[in-house]
Amino acid sequence: MSVLRSRGVSLEAPAAEQQPSASLDTGELPPAPALLGIGGYAPETVLSNAELEAMVETSDTWILERTGIRERRRGRADQTASVMGAAAARRALERAGSPTVDCIIACTASPDTLFPSVACLIQRRLGLGGAAAFDLGAACSGFVYGVTVADALIRGGHSTLVLVVATESMTSLVDYHDRATCVLFGDGAGAAVVGIGESGGLRASRLGADGAEAELIYYGPRADDPQSAPRIRMAGKGTFRIAVERMTETALALCADAGWRPEDVEHFVPHQANLRIIDAVAKRIGARPEQVIVNGDMFGNTSAASIPLALAEADAAGRLRRGDRVVGVAFGAGSTWGGIALEWALDPPAATPGA
Ligand code: ACO
Repeated sequence: MSVLRSRGVSLEAPAAEQQPSASLDTGELPPAPALLGIGGYAPETVLSNAELEAMVETSDTWILERTGIRERRRGRADQTASVMGAAAARRALERAGSPTVDCIIACTASPDTLFPSVACLIQRRLGLGGAAAFDLGAACSGFVYGVTVADALIRGGHSTLVLVVATESMTSLVDYHDRATCVLFGDGAGAAVVGIGESGGLRASRLGADGAEAELIYYGPRADDPQSAPRIRMAGKGTFRIAVERMTETALALCADAGWRPEDVEHFVPHQANLRIIDAVAKRIGARPEQVIVNGDMFGNTSAASIPLALAEADAAGRLRRGDRVVGVAFGAGSTWGGIALEWALDPPAATPGA
């Protein structure tokens, strides 16, 4: 399903030292925390480009050319972040063969309500009472932030198994009169069980943020009308340029931290904001199309959920193999950015008989 077109151009590497390094050099250490299970969920209702043509002045051609998005999912009002997150989490727990965890981190920018947290609501839905539970707000970078926090909790001895759930009801925040944003976003969830396994694990992690860029993407009234309803607002061109820059820097820095050459990484999993952003990042790091996991054409931008949703799809398709080097990078509102470099710790799922 890749829509990337590699031009095989490798540009000069931006300086890796621009971000503080949190390299996790595990050479002499016990096995690192790994993704022991992965699961995804998206609501069944498809919102196609043709349907958007009937809602705002746009066209399938414009959306495809500028974003690469063909369709996205739109949940019903009762398909909240906690409902979708619990569905993805069930699949991740099943994949991990673990009925329980001792900590739940919900990464979301679109909570059911301000409190209780989405993590507590997921905990209740899954019957995981007793596990610590809290939400993490890093917008589209939420999953890589969440996995990094899970890693630290495990290494620090606070937790053994952490459920990281990235879940977003973005369509409930979108202004369906604003053609520049409403074509981009979709709903979905992805979850991972993080714990020490037999092999593989997190090799490097980088996180960054710059609050001076808060106006790039925000949820609130329009800048020119403080009385207008709060909705997603975005400066598209600026976001595009900075997202490419930060995701490229982060991917190259992670490879350096992990001691990997970009050409040897089996899978790059960029945040699925816009397929042109993915294309530009892939070109700059010299990634071949087959190295890049893309599903944004079918789900749009699902914010924090996009990386685990893409991983879950790739895992279910048998595309990820134990020992594969995986680099996930994201950029989002805040601004926030970050990434994780990990060795995949799971064998492909057994084929379902008759499937
Ligand atoms: N259909 C038709 N025309 C449109 C649409 C649309 N859906 N949206 C905007 N236009 C028009 C604009 O009004 C403008 O018209 P004008 O020239 O008459 O003024 C024209 O298209 C060009 O608009 P631009 O904003 O300059 O278009 P651009 O090529 O920059 O593409 C886009 C816009 C797709 C939003 C792009 O800037 C982008 O992808 N930016 C990054 C967005 C993103 O990834 N955000 C999320 C990242 S962070 C996170 O995930 C929260």
